[in-house]
Amino acid sequence: MERDELHSISQLIQSRRTIRKILPDSIPRELIYTILEIASFAPFHSKKEPWEVLLISTESERQLFSTAILESYTRLGVWDSYNQSDLDKTKSKVYDYFAEVPVSIVVSVPLEADQKTSLEAISATAAFIQNIQLVAWDKSIGVTWRTTPNIFDSKFAEELRIDSTRQIVATLHLTKIKTASTKIKAKRTPLSEWVTTLESVKNNEA
Ligand SMILES: Cc1cc2nc3c(=O)[nH]c(=O)nc-3n(C[C@H](O)[C@H](O)[C@H](O)COP(=O)(O)O)c2cc1C
Repeated sequence: MERDELHSISQLIQSRRTIRKILPDSIPRELIYTILEIASFAPFHSKKEPWEVLLISTESERQLFSTAILESYTRLGVWDSYNQSDLDKTKSKVYDYFAEVPVSIVVSVPLEADQKTSLEAISATAAFIQNIQLVAWDKSIGVTWRTTPNIFDSKFAEELRIDSTRQIVATLHLTKIKTASTKIKAKRTPLSEWVTTLESVKNNEA
């Protein structure tokens, strides 16, 4: 790989932001497939890539999906934590978001009894998800990676026809990007606060 390309990968990683504000513009199915195909070059440590993806993009799919989320929140008692005086408004806001976001991607992994295999499947899938975010960003599409409570609701998974042998690990929500969003700089904790060396830890013990 050329040095310039490496440089642009660093820039891509540092410039990517979570984009929560959605635009109504549709995203072509072919572009979604391209993003997923490139993202699937993530590493994995099993016989077969552990991730599976359910695409929600047509109007009827989005309405079904959004209704299923609202019903799941009711089953799980999620609304109890919201201000009850304007609950109807909150519910329509939540409904509108999931019904209006142009593309949602439900990512699942096999449920593994073995702790190591389970960790590996989720880790590989996290790499796959971040690849989706980066490739999408490169193609002027923003993503919100969500772990909303409904991902742990088996009835919700059943409604999406996700097999009971699988666990939803995330839902991803894609939108075209406003150019202003690409200028938001990310902040991260300085390296000195989370990197140690074994020698320095041992010296501090002495
Ligand atoms: C495992 C995981 C779960 C996340 N869940 C949510 C979520 O449920 N809702 C949300 O708004 N953002 C969610 N995010 C996005 C993070 O809030 C976001 O990545 C973080 O604030 C850093 O911002 P950045 O992505 O713009 O760098 C999640 C991110 C990760 C990695």
